Amino acid sequence: MRKIFTLTLLALLALPVIADEGMWIPMLLGKNEAAMQKAGMRITAKDIYDINNACLKDAIILFNQGCTGEYVSAEGLFLTNHHCGYSYITSHSTVEHDYLTNGFWAMTREQELPCPGLTATRLVRMEDVTDQVLEGITPETAESDRTLIIDKNIAKITEHATKGTHYKAIIKPFYYGNQYFMYVNEVFTDVRLVGAPPSNIGKFGGDTDNWMWPRHTGDFSMFRVYADSDNKPAPYSKFNQPYKPLKHLEISLQGVKEGDFTFVFGYPGTTRRYVTSDQMELSANKENPVRIALRDIRLRHYKNAMEQSPAQRLKYASKVASIANGWKKWQGETLGIKRLQGVEQKRFQEIAFQEWADRYKNLRIRDYDYSTVLADLHKNYQQLTPIDLEWTYFSEAVMASDFMTRAHNLYNIYNLCINGKEEEAQAAITKFIQSNDKYFADFDQHTVVDKAIFVETFMYMFKNGFASYYHMSEAQMEQGLNKIYDNSMLNQKGAVEKFFKQYKAKDAAKLLKDPGVEFFSTVYVNIYTAEKRAQYKEANQNINRLMRIYVKGMMTQYPDSNFFPDANLTLRVAYGKVAGFHPADAVYYKPYSTLEGIMQKENPDIYDYVVTPRLHELYNKKDYGRYANEKGEMPVAFIATNHTTGGNSGSPVLNADGRLIGINFDRCWEGTMSDLLFDPDYCRNISLDIRYCLFIIDKYAGATHLVNEMTIVK
Ligand code: ARG
Ligand code: GLU
Repeated sequence: MRKIFTLTLLALLALPVIADEGMWIPMLLGKNEAAMQKAGMRITAKDIYDINNACLKDAIILFNQGCTGEYVSAEGLFLTNHHCGYSYITSHSTVEHDYLTNGFWAMTREQELPCPGLTATRLVRMEDVTDQVLEGITPETAESDRTLIIDKNIAKITEHATKGTHYKAIIKPFYYGNQYFMYVNEVFTDVRLVGAPPSNIGKFGGDTDNWMWPRHTGDFSMFRVYADSDNKPAPYSKFNQPYKPLKHLEISLQGVKEGDFTFVFGYPGTTRRYVTSDQMELSANKENPVRIALRDIRLRHYKNAMEQSPAQRLKYASKVASIANGWKKWQGETLGIKRLQGVEQKRFQEIAFQEWADRYKNLRIRDYDYSTVLADLHKNYQQLTPIDLEWTYFSEAVMASDFMTRAHNLYNIYNLCINGKEEEAQAAITKFIQSNDKYFADFDQHTVVDKAIFVETFMYMFKNGFASYYHMSEAQMEQGLNKIYDNSMLNQKGAVEKFFKQYKAKDAAKLLKDPGVEFFSTVYVNIYTAEKRAQYKEANQNINRLMRIYVKGMMTQYPDSNFFPDANLTLRVAYGKVAGFHPADAVYYKPYSTLEGIMQKENPDIYDYVVTPRLHELYNKKDYGRYANEKGEMPVAFIATNHTTGGNSGSPVLNADGRLIGINFDRCWEGTMSDLLFDPDYCRNISLDIRYCLFIIDKYAGATHLVNEMTIVK
């Protein structure tokens, strides 16, 4: 065992970036081209990104600030995930027209529904602007000055880059600020909902199947971008016309086989590939367990409530979906890191780095001696860790109840008042009272749940290291919490409104007399002291600076490796192959799922597994048309080794010819540590098979006119 461990580590040391790992910069894809072609790709890096010609990148959309979409027609029609379009589908749903439950299909352009606030961004071009951004910075520049200079430079560069155009430019740091790229974007704001399957399809499997394989979720929705008569972005207007993208994706009905080359082109949000053992230990073994334990409590109470009635189920569904999403992912992440002995791997790499740095002390970059960087990082993590953990408790325990998040709002109003910001305070009060009305719409049952969450999460925190802040016993604390809940005006309908009726800014202190606001402020003041803030800020700034040096050092240590930059919500390409995997001893997961599996999971009594009669009908008749695979099955989803993360939702999955074969929507639970550590044996992205998507649009919903807009290649 010991020997195997060491051998794996040695392999890792020689090759810091593992096969299939990486989210690559489209502009620099030339470096990966040979490897991609060797893996089966039949197009060129230039077909994917080309500054002078229309190319695949022109078909990719950043959907708001957290999902990806792709154009599939010459008239601005694009695809993304159902869970990305969710809030827009919901916002158009009413009791009479429940599009969320029943699905929505615009049968004419007039029926397409405007979505105020929704943006679809196209990357026009990107550019390496490192030298301009770092102009005026020397090795002696203090970190705080560095930030100021960089901000000033960035403002200048972006202004110059977009002068006289309707484009918007942003500049982002890569490799912790060793490199900077500018993104010149075109942002469309007239985006309309075109289609969404019923939630029994678009969310099939719900939170039960979330992050899991085998998966059968028809996770897609469709939108259309509208532009002015010059095909330029414009605010919503009925005179706008469908946008004509420079490029839309061709769709292949050929499907996938095990081993096929695929790539994902989209906007991954965050990865932390190069962190030290201290950070990995903090995230996986310290923060995650706290977050998981506290979310266990919240989920238990919400789920109990949801079992009481369909109305309760509906009320808590989206709350539970978002709490459970992180909760489940962190469990997979921590398990994955334990299984891979991730912290130990990092320590081993650090030993090798230290040896290298000591050996080549003369090899300095910007006059920095690499031999002290790890020790310095360690020192700063020692300062940061306890504060970070307290703050983790605060956000997962104190902020767990609606009671405390609402008390936080009132505490903010108090602060605005005592700082003389009366206008802002008034605006905050108006906003609060509006949201309060909504909150009390389901008052009775909710306070039971909310109170239980408030008391239990706080008691968990109290028992886990926070008792010393409060001079009382557990029993006293628990009793106190119950009293605070019952006596706060926040939990009595109409009481806050009444309070604010006679309120003047000079009465701010009265706000603090409410037991809820008072309690919040005490906890807050204990945990967020000026001293801790200063220490945290200092450690954090140091860590950023040191990581910049450490990453630069690793790149110098391994000059022949192609280091991919951590994801930062910029456009990336990940590539790999369709592949099953062994999640556990004696178990093998095949790489694709079919409609058969939906019928196997069906359970009319379990909300997540209800199958509609229409889908049954098509299944019984095997009426799959041209969307069936060569075995006559209806494929639903597939997995592959592409390295993806949150933000890649909705990303196109393309085949060797650059044609659309799927829509990325998740990762397999056993591989969710891939934000920190990628393992080709376990890390799989989950994609909706494009044939199931088209089958639902065409055969299920009869929205054939939408499929007819697309370019489908057999
Ligand atoms: N796990 C997927 C992604 O992070 C899908 C989340 C939405 N689906 C759900 N059942 N909560 O983000
Ligand atoms: N569902 C995720 C998203 O919304 C993608 C899953 C992942 O984290 O890879 O972006």
